[in-house]
Amino acid sequence: MKHIVVLTGAGISAESGLSTFRDKGGLWDDYAIEEVALIHAWTADKEKVLNFYNIRRKEAFNAEPNGAHVALASLEMKANVSIITQNVDSLHERAGSSNVLHLHGRLDRAKSEFNERYNIDIGSDDIRIGDLCPDGHQLRPDIVWFGEEVPNMLPAINLVKSADLFIVIGTSLTVYPAASLLDYVRKNVAIYVIDPSDVHPMYAAHYKQFKQKASAGIDMAIKELENSGFFSTI
Ligand code: APR
Repeated sequence: MKHIVVLTGAGISAESGLSTFRDKGGLWDDYAIEEVALIHAWTADKEKVLNFYNIRRKEAFNAEPNGAHVALASLEMKANVSIITQNVDSLHERAGSSNVLHLHGRLDRAKSEFNERYNIDIGSDDIRIGDLCPDGHQLRPDIVWFGEEVPNMLPAINLVKSADLFIVIGTSLTVYPAASLLDYVRKNVAIYVIDPSDVHPMYAAHYKQFKQKASAGIDMAIKELENSGFFSTI
């Protein structure tokens, strides 16, 4: 089976009612990144950071996977599908996708602010000041903040290098190192971009854009792949 690698961003969860970051009315219109998504924000005001993620965790937990998440899960019947997501919701997993790699962490997990190895599933529970790990340190969201290492970057690069098709859905490609994954797509491997707005012209020469919302766009892309015989050739 062919290997399809999909890079998703906040746009794929927009139809599930979750805000993107940089669209009009997005999260970064309401919150200052430097106050909630930086390690310095954590040292400056843990309570503010915890509240920001407690709100987003509840929203993500109450959201449902949309047609795009479901279409990607069903695509596993036709191809070997690896999803690399920048999203911290678990809508891909809840839609049934079996190979999901989170680059920026997950809202449903928490870790020790001191010892990275202490990492637990918290579902939709809040994290409060005073929620301590066995080592006595404060629990923090298992989110990769700006300026922190992206531990899953190397496995993500290896996936992209073995892709027979690379699909980008719902990301502005403005945050690194995630956006640099495009550089690892092998020559003459097609890049599809599904996004209702124009994506950075820097990539225009190399990709085919489906200028649609995620669910309509992924359906169109899969139809095109079927018509071109992509799934029938090994
Ligand atoms: N369907 C598909 N794409 C959409 C939709 C939709 N319904 N609605 C919006 N989009 C597109 C926007 O046009 C934009 O290109 O989704 C993209 C969202 O971009 P951002 O808001 O920048 O989100 P993202 O690219 O995921 O941000 C990357 O930045 O703040 C950090 O860690 C955070 O993971 C996040 C990273």
